[in-house]
Amino acid sequence: MRINLTKASALLLSGKVVAIPTETVYGLAACFNNELAIKEVYKLKNRPPKNPLIMHVDRPEVIREFTKELPATFEILAKAFWPGPLTLVLQALEDKIPEIVRAGLPTQAFRIPDHSLTLELLKQTGPLVAPSANLSGRPSASSETHVESDFGSNFPVLAGGACTKGVESTILIYQEGEWIIGRLGAIAANSFEPILGYIPKEIGVNALLACPGQRYRHYAPEAALKLVKEFPASGWIIGFSDRQYPKKADLILWGHSDNPEKVLSHLYDTLRGLDLRNIKEAFIDANFPDTGLWKTLKERLNKASTK
Ligand code: TXA
Ligand code: MG
Repeated sequence: MRINLTKASALLLSGKVVAIPTETVYGLAACFNNELAIKEVYKLKNRPPKNPLIMHVDRPEVIREFTKELPATFEILAKAFWPGPLTLVLQALEDKIPEIVRAGLPTQAFRIPDHSLTLELLKQTGPLVAPSANLSGRPSASSETHVESDFGSNFPVLAGGACTKGVESTILIYQEGEWIIGRLGAIAANSFEPILGYIPKEIGVNALLACPGQRYRHYAPEAALKLVKEFPASGWIIGFSDRQYPKKADLILWGHSDNPEKVLSHLYDTLRGLDLRNIKEAFIDANFPDTGLWKTLKERLNKASTK
């Protein structure tokens, strides 16, 4: 059920869960201090209880109320990337944030989303915790329709249109004096270099411990996905609009091979579309670089193709 700002704000303040738009993906939101509503978020998604939630706020000052001493680079990152698709994991003041939000960790993830409706909503409701608005394991939701398809047409969704980025925020975790990447996302690792003076590393296997969500199966449609560099003569191929594919193949083209932003913005819609059309198997053109935002695409596709 598509609702407006006034209704979304009233529902959230009365302890209900509402799907909200952001520039990355839709979130399944609850007030940060309402444990019953947060329990409902975990239940609706069927989310593992050990997977903590991101707190969404409307300005950096709010974060100071919930955290211990902030790293010196907090301000410059906030200035450069917020509102926007960056999530920062910081040392929490544990008595200020319910344990269920942090899944028991001593840290808290924060982000200021770049969506005018949701920024206005946050002014009215205060901080909102929100995981992506999809059933756990399924492709994320980058439109109202995607949310409705997972939670039903009566589920309240603040109508904010299609998400412009269409892929989740990049997560930076501050550890032992430097920022590391906990999850690749809508900001490429090299975009941090001018701000931080270094490119944050991905911490590989350790990231599994530092960023709990990375442990679980993700983003996967029912359809079997195969990342390939050569193509079968027929069958469904997901590829680039500027390339040639076998004549008998059925094509889904998700953008030009020089435009990873565009391709990412169609990622979840494309994956969900396979199931809607009852396509059982699709071959994805994996001839693209392993750098910048392409790396985010490859990471999502690798996860989505793992059963
Ligand atoms: O773009 C986004 O980040 C979207 C929109 C709705 O804001 N949200 C999102 O939430 O992707 P979710 O719950 O699907 O993914 C959040 C990720 C999970 O992998 C979780 O483990 C990690 O953030 N995370 C949350 N709190 C953390 C913490 N304290 N330390 C490390 N990782 C954390
Ligand atoms: Mg998610």
